[in-house]
Amino acid sequence: MSHVQVRPADQDSSAAKVTSRTLLEKKRRREPITALTAYDYPTARIVDEAGIDLILVGDSLAMTVLGHESTLSLTVEEMLHHARAVRRGVHRAFLVVDMPYGSYHLNTEATLRNALSFVKQGGAEAVKIEGGHRRAPLVEELTAAEIPVVGHIGLTPQSVLKMGGYRVQGRSLPEMDELLADAAALEEAGAVALVLEGIPRELAEQITESAKIPTIGIGAGPGCDGQILVFHDVFDLAFTPAAKFVRSFGDGSALFRQGIERYREEVVARTFPADAESYHLPREMTSSMHLPIRPVSLAS
Ligand code: KIV
Repeated sequence: MSHVQVRPADQDSSAAKVTSRTLLEKKRRREPITALTAYDYPTARIVDEAGIDLILVGDSLAMTVLGHESTLSLTVEEMLHHARAVRRGVHRAFLVVDMPYGSYHLNTEATLRNALSFVKQGGAEAVKIEGGHRRAPLVEELTAAEIPVVGHIGLTPQSVLKMGGYRVQGRSLPEMDELLADAAALEEAGAVALVLEGIPRELAEQITESAKIPTIGIGAGPGCDGQILVFHDVFDLAFTPAAKFVRSFGDGSALFRQGIERYREEVVARTFPADAESYHLPREMTSSMHLPIRPVSLAS
């Protein structure tokens, strides 16, 4: 059993709830939008309390948390399980839930049903779907059902089979034109923001310049309205070689490993638990027992 000290979320004005309007305002004021993934209650609390604007329950959890080779096998039920946990830890940030591969590819009715489950059961404030102009009709349908949508274009990991690997997109003139058209079509259809992944910074700047909705980049250079990274990449917990765009902001892996090694050593050396970490019988009981018991403090 573990005892967690629960700290209530800050109540000051810097903790004002972030909505899609906040993100739009930030774009207008040219204030960078901060975004990070989270996959469970503790990471959600830490990311939210650190003041990040947008938290994404990314389908990257298939790889980072569940150990799969790609994001393709993640199910709606698995995503819901993680979304619910994250929801319980988020008070301030705008919470976006990724729609897994297959959950929006069959027909409109199935897409709406799945998206509604992320809102109603997972507490999503928006859902994210991958793909360009071909997704525009879906974005319209979801928006008409009062479900805000974040688009995701460029290197879309759910298209790994079609792309033949994880490759930077938009490096030729026709591809650039297509991505500019994708961004415009998704915005026109009602998307509230766009994730731009794995594209040249010059193209990301052009899309950001022409879009009225915020762009959030990952591997798309510094000219986007905001940046997003994967939690496990930021803290060296991904166990794979990092992509060029990843920057580590702390070695979580070393921190956990060293802590676990020390714990193991202390258990083996019988220096954990100490007397101060143990419960005691009341003094009157121990005095009548013929046990080699040391003095008992009143606080014990
Ligand atoms: O699943 C995810 O983590 C994502 C981010 C990389 C944007 O889609």
